[in-house]
Amino acid sequence: MTVTIGLSKGRLLKESKGILEMLGQDFDYIKTTRQLVIKDEERNLNFILLKPSDVPTYVEKGIIDVGIVGKDTLIENKRDVYEVMNLPIGKCRFSVAGKPENKKKLDQTFIKVATKYPNIAKAYFENKGKTIEITKLNGSVELAPLVGLSDMIVDLVETGNTLKANGLVVYEDVFEVSARLIVNKVSYRFKDTGIQEVINKVKEWEAGL
Ligand code: PRP
Repeated sequence: MTVTIGLSKGRLLKESKGILEMLGQDFDYIKTTRQLVIKDEERNLNFILLKPSDVPTYVEKGIIDVGIVGKDTLIENKRDVYEVMNLPIGKCRFSVAGKPENKKKLDQTFIKVATKYPNIAKAYFENKGKTIEITKLNGSVELAPLVGLSDMIVDLVETGNTLKANGLVVYEDVFEVSARLIVNKVSYRFKDTGIQEVINKVKEWEAGL
């Protein structure tokens, strides 16, 4: 039975190189192709390349059996899937950040926040008893406080280079993030051999790091 694996395009794909090679795949091909479905009939594996936020959706629906996706995406868009492994890739943190001179705005009861992650931002600030106005953005979030669209941002910080290059600083850390291996609940029961083989390969890759 063929196991379909969903890959998050972008940063996480680059970091998935070792896993894909352990699964016998040509990483350079997967990285550069515009093909969305890549079939490996010899190994009974299909690979599907997706926007990270769509990976859990396809896994929940059972189109994809196994997915590699960031914990950030899983928290923001809750889906009914099994999280079977915490992977040592995609490591970064969620932070509240903004212009150094605006840090005092954290003490206001009403804060304007820009983010790609409205649910995470809302939960974080509401827990602190703050009322926030959220502007949902799809990228380049660091621009928002620079041009006055928001007081601050809630975003992922990996190297900190983007914040630094734009004169922004971290006000508070929210939580740590890393990638996860997720599995469709039905596939986990009915394609157990194939899925276990994939999990074992990922474990083998991890053990060799
Ligand atoms: C992410 C994130 C930050 C940046 C952090 O965006 O939203 O903007 O990376 O990384 P750094 O700390 O290493 O600089 P991404 O590059 O994925 O693109 P986007 O702005 O289009 O969402």
